[in-house]
Amino acid sequence: MGKVIAVANQKGGVGKTTTAINLAASFAAIEHPTLLIDIDPQANCSSGIGMEPEEIENSIYEVLIGDVPMEDAVISSEMPFLDVVPSHINLVGAEIEMIDVSERERILKKALERARRKYEFVVIDCPPSLGLLTLNSLTAASSVLIPVQAEYFALEGLGQLLNTVKIVRQHLNPELDIEGVLLTMFDTRLRLSNQVAEEVRRYFGDKVFETIVRRNVRVSEAPSFGQPVLLYDSTCKGARNYIALAKEILEDGTPAPASDDEDGVAEEAVPDETQQTPATGFTLGS
Ligand SMILES: Nc1ncnc2c1ncn2[C@@H]1O[C@H](COP(=O)(O)OP(=O)(O)O)[C@@H](O)[C@H]1O
Ligand SMILES: [Mg+2]
Repeated sequence: MGKVIAVANQKGGVGKTTTAINLAASFAAIEHPTLLIDIDPQANCSSGIGMEPEEIENSIYEVLIGDVPMEDAVISSEMPFLDVVPSHINLVGAEIEMIDVSERERILKKALERARRKYEFVVIDCPPSLGLLTLNSLTAASSVLIPVQAEYFALEGLGQLLNTVKIVRQHLNPELDIEGVLLTMFDTRLRLSNQVAEEVRRYFGDKVFETIVRRNVRVSEAPSFGQPVLLYDSTCKGARNYIALAKEILEDGTPAPASDDEDGVAEEAVPDETQQTPATGFTLGS
């Protein structure tokens, strides 16, 4: 039975879509059958992995609303071990349409029950909100992976996300685990990035992945070619970071080898904002 990983953070632009695409592609590259599900109405994940709107007959919208089996929305990708369930802009209305459905938080979980048997991993790219689509993802998931951008206010809003995880555990999915917190868009030259990393580690302890994803221009270019960075430039830093992340998850807790370039620490004043921690009494762990 496949492990279902929801990539979630209600903040936009933290690297959720990039992580969902490239983690799924990395699992697939090491020959683990993987399904990538885009549940964000913006459908960046679908276009970023090369799905053309005209080749999409059924999207996750039809699965959630139209009672179409998940299997009928699955599209093969360019990679042999990677399938995709795309999103569509009409998913925008889904949260409202789902309100009258009984057990509306469990629609995705039920839809995935049969489909997930074919895969070792299912990776879900969540929208930047804590609405019904994200709740469905967390209810269907075995674990949640939280990307955090190594930037100002990195920890802002995470208290709310952790509180949502806690509520989901209590009422919808007691099995939900925290897969880990992933530092993204890390710039080794900036003292700020290092300070944020320190702060995130202080707050989340060993829930933070050893693997850190560097800011890498190849990573940001790849989606416009409809490719995971592994296919676009397999040797770049970003591709290697995401392979390391996949291996770290596969090894389940065994730290990945330390990264090789801790050079170039720039002098930069770090304001107090980076010191803030989410105001929540929620304790991590599983
Ligand atoms: N490691 C990285 N290096 C460079 N650019 C990145 C990296 N990760 C993400 N980006 C860029 O940052 C922007 C936001 O990332 P995205 O994955 O779309 O975030 P989210 O899904 O959380 O909104 C995108 O333009 C993406 O290409
Ligand atoms: Mg996104």
